[in-house]
Amino acid sequence: MRRRADTSITRSSDSETEELDEVYLHTVTIHGREFHKFSIDNQIAFEPVDDEEAERLDLQHRVFSKVFDGRLIFPPIPRLRRVLDCGYGAGSWAVDMATQYPDCRVIGLDISPHKNPDDVPENLWLQVGRDFQRSRDGRIAAGLRLDRAPESVRLTSHHQVDDLNRRFTFPSNHFDLVHSRLLATGINRARWPSYLADIKRVLKPGGWVQLTEIYFNVQSDNGSITEEHALRRWSTEFLRSYEGTKDVRVGTRLNNLLRDRGFKEIDARMIPLPLSAWSIGESSLPVSFAGCSTSVLDRKMQEIGMLNRENVNSLLPSLALYPLTQISGMPQQDFQELITQAREEAETASLKAYFPL
Ligand SMILES: C[S@@+](CC[C@H](N)C(=O)[O-])C[C@H]1O[C@@H](n2cnc3c(N)ncnc32)[C@H](O)[C@@H]1O
Repeated sequence: MRRRADTSITRSSDSETEELDEVYLHTVTIHGREFHKFSIDNQIAFEPVDDEEAERLDLQHRVFSKVFDGRLIFPPIPRLRRVLDCGYGAGSWAVDMATQYPDCRVIGLDISPHKNPDDVPENLWLQVGRDFQRSRDGRIAAGLRLDRAPESVRLTSHHQVDDLNRRFTFPSNHFDLVHSRLLATGINRARWPSYLADIKRVLKPGGWVQLTEIYFNVQSDNGSITEEHALRRWSTEFLRSYEGTKDVRVGTRLNNLLRDRGFKEIDARMIPLPLSAWSIGESSLPVSFAGCSTSVLDRKMQEIGMLNRENVNSLLPSLALYPLTQISGMPQQDFQELITQAREEAETASLKAYFPL
Protein backbone atom coordinates (compact mmCIF):
# COMPACT_ATOMS: atom_id res chain seq x y z
CA MET A 1 0.00 0.00 0.00
CA ARG A 2 1.38 3.41 -0.94
CA ARG A 3 1.60 6.14 1.61
CA ARG A 4 0.54 9.54 0.30
CA ALA A 5 3.46 11.92 -0.05
CA ASP A 6 3.32 15.02 2.09
CA THR A 7 2.41 17.93 -0.16
CA SER A 8 2.28 20.58 2.54
CA ILE A 9 5.49 22.49 2.09
CA THR A 10 6.13 25.39 4.36
CA ARG A 11 8.28 28.45 4.03
CA SER A 12 11.71 27.93 5.53
CA SER A 13 13.31 30.43 7.83
CA ASP A 14 15.84 31.50 5.18
CA SER A 15 12.84 32.22 2.89
CA GLU A 16 14.40 30.26 0.04
CA THR A 17 11.66 27.67 0.16
CA GLU A 18 8.18 28.79 -0.76
CA GLU A 19 4.84 27.34 0.16
CA LEU A 20 3.25 25.13 -2.44
CA ASP A 21 0.38 27.29 -3.62
CA GLU A 22 -2.88 26.08 -2.07
CA VAL A 23 -4.70 26.20 -5.38
CA TYR A 24 -2.73 23.20 -6.66
CA LEU A 25 -3.47 21.12 -3.59
CA HIS A 26 -7.27 21.09 -3.74
CA THR A 27 -9.08 17.96 -4.81
CA VAL A 28 -12.72 17.23 -5.57
CA THR A 29 -14.47 13.93 -4.96
CA ILE A 30 -16.64 12.59 -7.77
CA HIS A 31 -18.45 9.27 -7.36
CA GLY A 32 -16.00 8.25 -4.65
CA ARG A 33 -12.78 9.10 -6.55
CA GLU A 34 -10.51 12.07 -5.90
CA PHE A 35 -9.63 14.46 -8.74
CA HIS A 36 -7.25 17.43 -9.00
CA LYS A 37 -9.46 20.50 -8.86
CA PHE A 38 -7.09 22.81 -10.73
CA SER A 39 -6.75 20.29 -13.60
CA ILE A 40 -10.50 19.78 -13.84
CA ASP A 41 -11.30 23.51 -13.66
CA ASN A 42 -8.74 24.26 -16.36
CA GLN A 43 -9.53 21.19 -18.52
CA ILE A 44 -5.95 19.94 -18.17
CA ALA A 45 -6.36 16.34 -17.00
CA PHE A 46 -9.36 14.23 -15.97
CA GLU A 47 -7.84 11.18 -14.29
CA PRO A 48 -8.15 10.57 -10.53
CA VAL A 49 -5.18 11.57 -8.35
CA ASP A 50 -5.92 9.31 -5.38
CA ASP A 51 -3.83 6.45 -3.93
CA GLU A 52 -5.78 3.94 -6.01
CA GLU A 53 -4.67 5.66 -9.23
CA ALA A 54 -1.09 6.02 -7.99
CA GLU A 55 -0.99 2.28 -7.28
CA ARG A 56 -2.45 1.55 -10.71
CA LEU A 57 0.22 3.70 -12.40
CA ASP A 58 2.92 1.79 -10.48
CA LEU A 59 1.44 -1.49 -11.65
CA GLN A 60 1.13 -0.21 -15.22
CA HIS A 61 4.81 0.74 -15.08
CA ARG A 62 5.58 -2.90 -14.22
CA VAL A 63 3.50 -3.98 -17.22
CA PHE A 64 5.56 -1.67 -19.46
CA SER A 65 8.73 -3.07 -17.91
CA LYS A 66 7.63 -6.55 -18.95
CA VAL A 67 6.71 -5.36 -22.45
CA PHE A 68 10.07 -3.60 -22.88
CA ASP A 69 12.15 -6.41 -21.29
CA GLY A 70 13.07 -4.20 -18.34
CA ARG A 71 14.50 -1.41 -20.52
CA LEU A 72 13.72 2.11 -19.37
CA ILE A 73 15.18 3.86 -22.40
CA PHE A 74 15.53 2.84 -26.03
CA PRO A 75 17.77 5.39 -27.77
CA PRO A 76 21.52 4.79 -27.84
CA ILE A 77 22.76 7.55 -25.52
CA PRO A 78 26.36 6.98 -24.42
CA ARG A 79 26.24 9.25 -21.37
CA LEU A 80 23.09 10.50 -19.71
CA ARG A 81 23.56 13.71 -17.75
CA ARG A 82 20.11 15.29 -17.69
CA VAL A 83 16.71 13.75 -18.31
CA LEU A 84 13.24 15.33 -18.25
CA ASP A 85 10.14 13.24 -17.47
CA CYS A 86 6.98 15.04 -18.64
CA GLY A 87 3.91 14.18 -16.51
CA TYR A 88 5.71 11.89 -14.07
CA GLY A 89 2.46 10.71 -12.42
CA ALA A 90 3.37 8.40 -9.54
CA GLY A 91 7.06 8.84 -10.40
CA SER A 92 7.61 5.14 -11.18
CA TRP A 93 9.71 5.67 -14.34
CA ALA A 94 11.53 8.72 -12.93
CA VAL A 95 12.49 6.91 -9.71
CA ASP A 96 13.74 3.86 -11.64
CA MET A 97 15.74 6.09 -14.00
CA ALA A 98 17.34 8.04 -11.16
CA THR A 99 18.19 4.79 -9.38
CA GLN A 100 19.61 3.07 -12.46
CA TYR A 101 21.61 6.17 -13.53
CA PRO A 102 22.92 7.70 -10.28
CA ASP A 103 25.16 10.18 -12.17
CA CYS A 104 22.23 11.53 -14.15
CA ARG A 105 19.92 14.30 -12.96
CA VAL A 106 16.31 13.33 -13.53
CA ILE A 107 13.76 16.13 -13.48
CA GLY A 108 10.08 15.25 -13.34
CA LEU A 109 7.30 17.70 -14.03
CA ASP A 110 3.59 17.31 -13.35
CA ILE A 111 0.50 19.43 -12.90
CA SER A 112 -0.45 17.62 -9.69
CA PRO A 113 1.77 16.53 -6.80
CA HIS A 114 -0.80 14.16 -5.31
CA LYS A 115 0.58 10.87 -6.58
CA ASN A 116 4.16 11.62 -5.59
CA PRO A 117 6.28 8.68 -4.46
CA ASP A 118 7.39 8.40 -0.85
CA ASP A 119 11.07 7.87 -1.50
CA VAL A 120 12.85 10.05 -3.99
CA PRO A 121 16.52 9.39 -4.89
CA GLU A 122 18.91 12.32 -4.36
CA ASN A 123 19.36 12.81 -8.11
CA LEU A 124 15.62 13.14 -8.83
CA TRP A 125 13.78 16.45 -8.68
CA LEU A 126 10.04 16.55 -9.05
CA GLN A 127 9.16 20.01 -10.22
CA VAL A 128 6.36 22.12 -8.93
CA GLY A 129 7.84 25.49 -9.85
CA ARG A 130 6.91 27.10 -13.15
CA ASP A 131 10.44 28.20 -13.86
CA PHE A 132 13.68 26.41 -13.32
CA GLN A 133 15.73 29.02 -11.58
CA ARG A 134 19.36 29.14 -10.76
CA SER A 135 20.40 28.33 -7.27
CA ARG A 136 23.26 30.05 -5.56
CA ASP A 137 25.93 27.81 -7.03
CA GLY A 138 24.55 28.38 -10.53
CA ARG A 139 23.04 24.94 -10.94
CA ILE A 140 19.59 24.63 -12.41
CA ALA A 141 17.07 22.69 -10.43
CA ALA A 142 13.75 22.73 -8.65
CA GLY A 143 12.01 20.32 -6.38
CA LEU A 144 8.77 19.48 -4.72
CA ARG A 145 10.61 17.95 -1.82
CA LEU A 146 12.34 21.24 -1.21
CA ASP A 147 12.71 20.32 2.41
CA ARG A 148 14.69 17.25 1.39
CA ALA A 149 16.74 18.87 -1.37
CA PRO A 150 20.34 19.78 -0.63
CA GLU A 151 20.80 23.40 0.44
CA SER A 152 22.41 24.26 -2.89
CA VAL A 153 19.30 23.39 -4.88
CA ARG A 154 16.69 25.09 -2.72
CA LEU A 155 14.97 27.63 -4.88
CA THR A 156 12.61 30.51 -4.73
CA SER A 157 9.71 30.02 -7.06
CA HIS A 158 6.40 31.83 -7.14
CA HIS A 159 4.70 29.67 -9.72
CA GLN A 160 4.09 26.31 -8.23
CA VAL A 161 2.87 23.65 -10.61
CA ASP A 162 3.67 23.31 -14.25
CA ASP A 163 1.29 22.78 -17.14
CA LEU A 164 2.84 21.14 -20.18
CA ASN A 165 0.27 22.92 -22.33
CA ARG A 166 2.19 26.13 -21.72
CA ARG A 167 5.42 26.83 -23.57
CA PHE A 168 8.48 25.35 -21.84
CA THR A 169 10.67 27.71 -19.88
CA PHE A 170 13.61 25.29 -19.63
CA PRO A 171 16.84 26.50 -21.21
CA SER A 172 17.60 25.38 -24.77
CA ASN A 173 20.09 22.52 -25.41
CA HIS A 174 19.63 21.23 -21.89
CA PHE A 175 18.49 17.59 -21.79
CA ASP A 176 19.96 14.40 -23.25
CA LEU A 177 16.56 12.71 -23.15
CA VAL A 178 12.95 13.85 -22.76
CA HIS A 179 10.49 11.16 -21.75
CA SER A 180 6.76 11.63 -22.29
CA ARG A 181 4.47 8.71 -21.46
CA LEU A 182 0.66 8.67 -21.52
CA LEU A 183 0.10 12.37 -21.99
CA ALA A 184 -2.56 12.08 -24.73
CA THR A 185 -5.34 12.90 -22.25
CA GLY A 186 -3.36 15.84 -20.82
CA ILE A 187 -1.87 17.66 -23.80
CA ASN A 188 -4.41 19.83 -25.62
CA ARG A 189 -5.22 18.75 -29.17
CA ALA A 190 -3.76 21.89 -30.75
CA ARG A 191 -0.70 21.88 -28.51
CA TRP A 192 1.02 18.73 -29.89
CA PRO A 193 3.07 20.45 -32.63
CA SER A 194 4.37 23.14 -30.25
CA TYR A 195 4.82 20.56 -27.44
CA LEU A 196 7.16 18.57 -29.68
CA ALA A 197 8.85 21.78 -30.86
CA ASP A 198 9.45 22.73 -27.20
CA ILE A 199 10.89 19.26 -26.51
CA LYS A 200 13.19 19.61 -29.53
CA ARG A 201 14.36 23.03 -28.34
CA VAL A 202 15.31 21.84 -24.85
CA LEU A 203 17.13 18.77 -26.17
CA LYS A 204 20.87 18.99 -26.62
CA PRO A 205 22.09 18.50 -30.19
CA GLY A 206 21.96 14.72 -30.70
CA GLY A 207 19.44 14.36 -27.85
CA TRP A 208 16.44 12.03 -27.97
CA VAL A 209 12.76 12.09 -27.15
CA GLN A 210 10.99 8.88 -26.07
CA LEU A 211 7.19 8.95 -26.42
CA THR A 212 4.80 6.18 -25.37
CA GLU A 213 1.03 6.33 -25.81
CA ILE A 214 -1.77 3.80 -25.56
CA TYR A 215 -4.53 4.14 -28.17
CA PHE A 216 -7.57 3.28 -26.01
CA ASN A 217 -9.54 1.88 -28.92
CA VAL A 218 -9.97 -1.80 -28.13
CA GLN A 219 -8.93 -4.19 -30.91
CA SER A 220 -9.17 -7.88 -31.63
CA ASP A 221 -7.56 -9.46 -34.67
CA ASN A 222 -10.08 -12.31 -34.86
CA GLY A 223 -12.98 -9.92 -35.44
CA SER A 224 -14.86 -11.09 -32.35
CA ILE A 225 -15.49 -7.66 -30.80
CA THR A 226 -18.68 -6.14 -32.19
CA GLU A 227 -20.39 -2.78 -31.71
CA GLU A 228 -22.57 -4.45 -29.05
CA HIS A 229 -19.64 -5.34 -26.80
CA ALA A 230 -19.20 -3.22 -23.68
CA LEU A 231 -15.48 -2.89 -24.43
CA ARG A 232 -16.32 -1.35 -27.83
CA ARG A 233 -18.85 1.01 -26.20
CA TRP A 234 -16.28 1.92 -23.53
CA SER A 235 -13.77 2.83 -26.25
CA THR A 236 -16.24 4.73 -28.40
CA GLU A 237 -17.57 6.78 -25.49
CA PHE A 238 -14.09 7.39 -24.11
CA LEU A 239 -12.74 8.65 -27.45
CA ARG A 240 -15.87 10.73 -28.10
CA SER A 241 -15.79 12.45 -24.71
CA TYR A 242 -12.30 13.78 -25.43
CA GLU A 243 -13.00 14.94 -28.99
CA GLY A 244 -13.38 18.62 -28.10
CA THR A 245 -10.21 18.98 -26.06
CA LYS A 246 -7.54 16.29 -26.55
CA ASP A 247 -6.16 14.10 -29.31
CA VAL A 248 -6.51 10.66 -27.77
CA ARG A 249 -5.55 9.10 -31.12
CA VAL A 250 -2.20 10.90 -31.09
CA GLY A 251 -0.27 7.63 -30.54
CA THR A 252 -1.08 6.66 -34.13
CA ARG A 253 0.26 9.99 -35.47
CA LEU A 254 3.47 10.48 -33.50
CA ASN A 255 5.66 9.38 -36.37
CA ASN A 256 4.32 12.11 -38.68
CA LEU A 257 4.21 14.73 -35.96
CA LEU A 258 7.87 14.09 -35.12
CA ARG A 259 8.90 14.18 -38.79
CA ASP A 260 6.98 17.46 -39.29
CA ARG A 261 8.90 19.00 -36.39
CA GLY A 262 12.21 18.03 -37.98
CA PHE A 263 13.14 15.07 -35.74
CA LYS A 264 15.50 12.58 -37.42
CA GLU A 265 16.07 8.82 -36.96
CA ILE A 266 12.47 8.19 -35.93
CA ASP A 267 11.61 4.64 -34.92
CA ALA A 268 7.88 4.11 -34.26
CA ARG A 269 6.33 0.77 -33.34
CA MET A 270 2.88 -0.50 -32.49
CA ILE A 271 2.80 -3.23 -29.86
CA PRO A 272 -0.46 -5.00 -28.94
CA LEU A 273 -1.06 -4.70 -25.20
CA PRO A 274 -3.28 -7.67 -24.24
CA LEU A 275 -6.04 -6.88 -21.74
CA SER A 276 -5.66 -10.30 -20.09
CA ALA A 277 -3.74 -13.56 -20.50
CA TRP A 278 -5.00 -14.90 -23.81
CA SER A 279 -2.96 -16.95 -26.25
CA ILE A 280 -2.20 -15.51 -29.70
CA GLY A 281 -2.44 -18.99 -31.15
CA GLU A 282 0.79 -19.99 -32.81
CA SER A 283 -0.88 -20.70 -36.12
CA SER A 284 -1.64 -17.00 -36.60
CA LEU A 285 1.96 -15.95 -36.07
CA PRO A 286 4.92 -16.09 -38.42
CA VAL A 287 7.42 -18.86 -37.58
CA SER A 288 9.64 -16.32 -35.90
CA PHE A 289 9.12 -12.68 -35.05
CA ALA A 290 11.80 -10.14 -34.09
CA GLY A 291 14.22 -12.96 -33.48
CA CYS A 292 11.83 -14.82 -31.13
CA SER A 293 10.25 -18.18 -31.80
CA THR A 294 6.46 -17.98 -31.83
CA SER A 295 6.09 -20.08 -28.68
CA VAL A 296 8.42 -17.73 -26.77
CA LEU A 297 6.50 -14.72 -28.09
CA ASP A 298 3.17 -16.27 -27.21
CA ARG A 299 4.37 -17.03 -23.68
CA LYS A 300 5.62 -13.47 -23.26
CA MET A 301 2.30 -12.04 -24.48
CA GLN A 302 0.46 -14.23 -21.99
CA GLU A 303 2.70 -13.09 -19.15
CA ILE A 304 2.10 -9.46 -20.13
CA GLY A 305 -1.63 -10.12 -20.28
CA MET A 306 -1.57 -11.80 -16.88
CA LEU A 307 0.11 -8.76 -15.33
CA ASN A 308 -2.01 -6.28 -17.26
CA ARG A 309 -5.28 -7.92 -16.21
CA GLU A 310 -5.30 -6.18 -12.82
CA ASN A 311 -4.26 -2.88 -14.38
CA VAL A 312 -7.12 -3.09 -16.91
CA ASN A 313 -9.57 -3.93 -14.15
CA SER A 314 -8.72 -0.61 -12.47
CA LEU A 315 -8.10 1.35 -15.65
CA LEU A 316 -11.55 0.83 -17.16
CA PRO A 317 -13.40 2.76 -14.39
CA SER A 318 -10.54 5.05 -13.46
CA LEU A 319 -9.84 6.57 -16.90
CA ALA A 320 -13.46 6.72 -17.97
CA LEU A 321 -15.25 7.93 -14.83
CA TYR A 322 -14.87 11.68 -15.38
CA PRO A 323 -15.07 11.69 -19.21
CA LEU A 324 -18.16 9.48 -19.40
CA THR A 325 -20.18 10.70 -16.41
CA GLN A 326 -19.13 14.36 -16.26
CA ILE A 327 -18.33 15.26 -19.89
CA SER A 328 -20.69 12.94 -21.78
CA GLY A 329 -23.34 12.90 -19.03
CA MET A 330 -23.73 9.12 -18.73
CA PRO A 331 -25.85 8.25 -15.66
CA GLN A 332 -23.79 6.65 -12.87
CA GLN A 333 -25.89 3.48 -12.93
CA ASP A 334 -25.30 2.99 -16.69
CA PHE A 335 -21.60 3.68 -16.15
CA GLN A 336 -21.35 0.99 -13.46
CA GLU A 337 -23.12 -1.55 -15.68
CA LEU A 338 -20.85 -0.72 -18.61
CA ILE A 339 -17.74 -1.18 -16.45
CA THR A 340 -18.94 -4.49 -14.98
CA GLN A 341 -19.58 -5.87 -18.46
CA ALA A 342 -16.38 -4.43 -19.96
CA ARG A 343 -14.31 -6.00 -17.15
CA GLU A 344 -15.84 -9.40 -17.86
CA GLU A 345 -15.14 -9.07 -21.57
CA ALA A 346 -11.54 -7.96 -20.94
CA GLU A 347 -11.03 -11.31 -19.18
CA THR A 348 -12.72 -13.37 -21.88
CA ALA A 349 -9.78 -15.11 -23.53
CA SER A 350 -11.63 -15.89 -26.76
CA LEU A 351 -12.07 -12.16 -27.52
CA LYS A 352 -8.27 -11.70 -27.58
CA ALA A 353 -8.75 -8.02 -26.77
CA TYR A 354 -5.85 -5.58 -26.80
CA PHE A 355 -5.09 -1.87 -26.84
CA PRO A 356 -2.49 -0.74 -29.38
CA LEU A 357 0.56 0.64 -27.52
C1 LIG B 1 -1.67 8.91 -17.26
S1 LIG B 1 -0.56 9.65 -16.12
C2 LIG B 1 0.98 8.96 -16.68
C3 LIG B 1 2.07 9.09 -15.66
C4 LIG B 1 3.43 8.57 -16.08
N1 LIG B 1 3.96 9.28 -17.23
C5 LIG B 1 3.42 7.09 -16.33
O1 LIG B 1 3.62 6.68 -17.48
O2 LIG B 1 3.19 6.34 -15.38
C6 LIG B 1 -0.47 11.31 -16.75
C7 LIG B 1 0.21 12.26 -15.78
O3 LIG B 1 0.48 13.48 -16.49
C8 LIG B 1 0.02 14.58 -15.74
N2 LIG B 1 -0.43 15.59 -16.71
C9 LIG B 1 -1.42 15.45 -17.61
N3 LIG B 1 -1.53 16.56 -18.35
C10 LIG B 1 -0.58 17.42 -17.90
C11 LIG B 1 -0.21 18.72 -18.27
N4 LIG B 1 -0.85 19.38 -19.25
N5 LIG B 1 0.81 19.30 -17.61
C12 LIG B 1 1.46 18.64 -16.61
N6 LIG B 1 1.15 17.40 -16.22
C13 LIG B 1 0.14 16.80 -16.86
C14 LIG B 1 -1.11 14.05 -14.88
O4 LIG B 1 -1.26 14.82 -13.69
C15 LIG B 1 -0.65 12.63 -14.60
O5 LIG B 1 0.11 12.57 -13.43
